[in-house]
Amino acid sequence: MSGPDEPTRKQRFLVTAALPYANGPLHIGHMAGAYLPADIYVRFLRRMGKEVLFVCGSDEHGVPILVRARQEGKTPQEIVDYYHTLNQQTFEQFGIRFDVYFRTSHPLHHQIAQNFFLTLHQKGYLIEREIEQFYDPEIDMFLADRYILGTCPYCGYENAYGDQCEKCGTALSPDELKNPRSALTGKPPVRRKTRHWFFDLPRFTSWLRQWLLEEKAQTWKANVIGQCRSWLTIGLQPRAVTRDLPWGVPVPLSQAKGKVLYVWFEAPIGYISATQYYCQEHNLDWRQWWQDPNTALIHFIGKDNIVFHAIIFPAMLKAHGEYILPENVPANEFMNLEGRKISTSQNWAVWIHEFIQRHPDYIDAMRFVLTRLLPETRDSEFTWRDFHDLVQGELVGTLGNYLHRIWTLAYRLDVHTSWQTLPVDRETLRKLQPTIRQIAQAIHTFRFREALNLILQIAREGNQHLALEAPWQYLQSDRERAATILRTHLERFLLLTALIEPITPFTIAQIWQQWNIPNIRWEQLLRIGEQPLFHGEQPIPPPRIPYPRVHESMIQQEVHHLKEQAQPEEAREQPPTSSHQTISIHQFQQIQLVTGRILHVQNHPRAQRLYILQVDVGKYGRRQIVAGIRPYYTPEELQGKTVILVLNLEPKEIRGVRSEGMLLAAEDPNSGKVILLTTDEPTVPGASIR
Ligand code: 2FM
Ligand code: ZN
Repeated sequence: MSGPDEPTRKQRFLVTAALPYANGPLHIGHMAGAYLPADIYVRFLRRMGKEVLFVCGSDEHGVPILVRARQEGKTPQEIVDYYHTLNQQTFEQFGIRFDVYFRTSHPLHHQIAQNFFLTLHQKGYLIEREIEQFYDPEIDMFLADRYILGTCPYCGYENAYGDQCEKCGTALSPDELKNPRSALTGKPPVRRKTRHWFFDLPRFTSWLRQWLLEEKAQTWKANVIGQCRSWLTIGLQPRAVTRDLPWGVPVPLSQAKGKVLYVWFEAPIGYISATQYYCQEHNLDWRQWWQDPNTALIHFIGKDNIVFHAIIFPAMLKAHGEYILPENVPANEFMNLEGRKISTSQNWAVWIHEFIQRHPDYIDAMRFVLTRLLPETRDSEFTWRDFHDLVQGELVGTLGNYLHRIWTLAYRLDVHTSWQTLPVDRETLRKLQPTIRQIAQAIHTFRFREALNLILQIAREGNQHLALEAPWQYLQSDRERAATILRTHLERFLLLTALIEPITPFTIAQIWQQWNIPNIRWEQLLRIGEQPLFHGEQPIPPPRIPYPRVHESMIQQEVHHLKEQAQPEEAREQPPTSSHQTISIHQFQQIQLVTGRILHVQNHPRAQRLYILQVDVGKYGRRQIVAGIRPYYTPEELQGKTVILVLNLEPKEIRGVRSEGMLLAAEDPNSGKVILLTTDEPTVPGASIR
């Protein structure tokens, strides 16, 4: 397929995802930033019949790895070996399906990166300069700016880094620090002269302006172009591409003994090495991926990587001259976690390998929720509450429910039915065609949240049709009629499985295997209603629940776990309240509980489980409260009801709607039903609870 909906007519796609550092495990922020959208994109492209190569690997050089190795008394190689294996396995288990997961400590990468450097050197793009740098004589090492500590000249903070003071936020250079000391040994560093090679980035300024701000501004994401614009406005400087370090890719010049390539110079070249490695292994020609203008190169990254992928690496490729340039660099913003920035050092993170271990049945659910919350245009937030609500409301409640109902009904009818002979409602199905095209367009422009919403819409509509047609009425009396209704739904069923596969691949692979469904092509989806997807050659397999529901207890455990594992100083800020902890009567009295009367009930426009309630609280006035009780009460049941609410809870936006308090409710441990608390006898609104 190649049509007006596609920004590029290219048929071959080389998709890269940022090479993660091999000095720590992966968390949800990594996945939402780059890897999950990349994987979804690749899976859709493959369904569309494109030729795709999906490359990634470990970024195994850089100072933090070296420092960590020293601290742990290990070699850097031991550190990266461990995390390379762990992360590769995590990606695999999370369904991120790279064609190749390479690593930058591999000799092939060293060779390719060195050749790249030599080409730029020969072409005169590298400037040699002597500079003065801090040096730690104790360990014979030049110190990166980040590894010099000292007193901030602006605010007096004593542990400011050589590149920035974390206290007042000022950007610093190491010689501004008072009383500088090495972060590695604590000893005062000395200044030493050293030679380095600088990439002449300013020579590419006018080309970058033209390429980014004129050619690419239309098709690249606004957050990416925005950052590029500000870099170009501030002005580009020559960038040092070598370092004095004992770990990295050696600089291939005889006069550069003991020096290595700067990690941000060689890591992106890792995309090229990974491709070459893959092609060697599979007896293919790597040039079709990197030198053929018919290949679209797409870099998936997080926003902290934008300058390297949108400015520096393209300039390096341009300077080299033999490679294609990126077609697009769809960078995401960051995902926060429960109101805080994800922090590796403070252990404020949901680690993917641990999540997989604790909840192997919820990998697709996590992929679904992360897709729903992708930080595509601005920072987003993951909360376990949302995880619960989105899985229960949408994945289980809308999509899973629809698939399961169709499957169950079709199974019950199957014995007597020859599906092939039944007609489908072509009109209804053909009406879905524009939505499929919209989904394709959303994918091609990296709007995965929108694509998912459109898919959910198809399921929602299916549920609505089903409720109106009520085929279950005819299961006994008129099986032919019931089966005819089902026949059309079976098309929607298969359509949905194909559309949601990139997001929940494990579940769908299982369903397809059970149903013995061969590969469904995108072209077939585009022609839904015209040619059947379902052929019904085999009996329908016994139904299974596609997506397991999430229990309240899992959410509570996860929140508890997150707070427990966080660094102590953080934990002190927000004391964990476990069920074993007692509180004083004084603490209890700080919670202001009052009665209220529900005046008005409205559906939350953006969440299936939520109502927006207007509550009369007597002398305290009127409160708007967002409550997750829609599955359990109708608006009529709630109207006029006396409820108990927490009055002095900090107001909060819940999916874009302000909530000024909370209703108290009991959750039945067996059914999971939520039951509102009320008073034993009628009372006026605003009565205090004691
Ligand atoms: O930010 C990071 O995690 C880097 N390791 C990404 C490198 S991407 C590419 F250049 F290799
Ligand atoms: Zn400061």
